[in-house]
Amino acid sequence: MNSDTLLSAKDLSVRFGGVLAVNKVSFDVKQGEVFTLIGPNGAGKTTVFNLISRIYTPTTGSITYAGPQGPLQLTEQAPQNVASLGIARTFQNIELFEHASVLHNLLIGRHTHRKTSLWQDLLFTPAVREAELKAREKAEEVIEFLDLQHYRDSLVAGLPYGVRKVVEMARALCTEPKLLLLDEPSSGLNVEETDDMAFWIQDIKNELGITVLMVEHDMSLVSKVSDRVLAMNQGEVLAMGSPREVQTDPAVVEAYLGSIDDVSSLRREMSADGPPLGARAPLGGSAVREATSVGAKSA
Ligand SMILES: Nc1ncnc2c1ncn2[C@@H]1O[C@H](COP(=O)(O)OP(=O)(O)OP(=O)(O)O)[C@@H](O)[C@H]1O
Ligand SMILES: [Mg+2]
Repeated sequence: MNSDTLLSAKDLSVRFGGVLAVNKVSFDVKQGEVFTLIGPNGAGKTTVFNLISRIYTPTTGSITYAGPQGPLQLTEQAPQNVASLGIARTFQNIELFEHASVLHNLLIGRHTHRKTSLWQDLLFTPAVREAELKAREKAEEVIEFLDLQHYRDSLVAGLPYGVRKVVEMARALCTEPKLLLLDEPSSGLNVEETDDMAFWIQDIKNELGITVLMVEHDMSLVSKVSDRVLAMNQGEVLAMGSPREVQTDPAVVEAYLGSIDDVSSLRREMSADGPPLGARAPLGGSAVREATSVGAKSA
């Protein structure tokens, strides 16, 4: 594995009964980049995330990760150790403690960092007190970074959907990850919230230096924030490259639109130095979001 590579997936496959959900997928994620997986519904994107976060074990293949003590095989790690290796994630469907405050959700997220034992916790030793203070400090820092001060003490259950998406990202950031996995960060967000999400992702990369591996359907967000894109269909890699290269790859266009005739009309839509494909759709308002979202929206 190169020194600039954070994660390297080689020939990953996973089968669920008769379904080959991921089929010989290989890719490298470089340190400090935003790497995005795109593909129609059922392409296998979330399954790749679930392989990295050890929810699933691959049928074949390996995932090498530049861990704190050097390269390691992620597939040999226990699922509960993944967070402490510096890998954090958000879910396609938000997973937060609905009846706890934003701050408490962030403190719970931070728990993976605790090195103290149950006995130390019960006796509230100085080490526990110090860990508690550090956790609070980090949570407050993340609240400020993601502009969540206004919602700090609110119960998650009462928050607008768009805010909950940011809280979920905040909880992941509290674990101080090296690699952040975001599964459809813009799903369910309106145009304005999606623009904000693009800024947060850019700030996470540029200001915090965190590597981001993202699954996303909204091509305007993908074009804005991604350094490289990997397109999947039916468990296989279709194309890999810059957002523009991948969006104009005939195999990718065909997978989304189902007809090779559409490739030429889509190409005509694009000028050599024009904005990304989605941004040129001759529609307005929410229709633009529909047009720039490839594949159907997730459940
Ligand atoms: N635990 C599972 N058991 C059986 N089949 C599964 C399981 N998880 C995923 N699959 C199947 O694997 C395939 C890939 O699913 P996956 O959720 O990875 O797709 P996706 O690309 O994330 O799609 P979407 O854009 O809809 O979220 C689908 O056919 C899905 O039904
Ligand atoms: Mg998915």
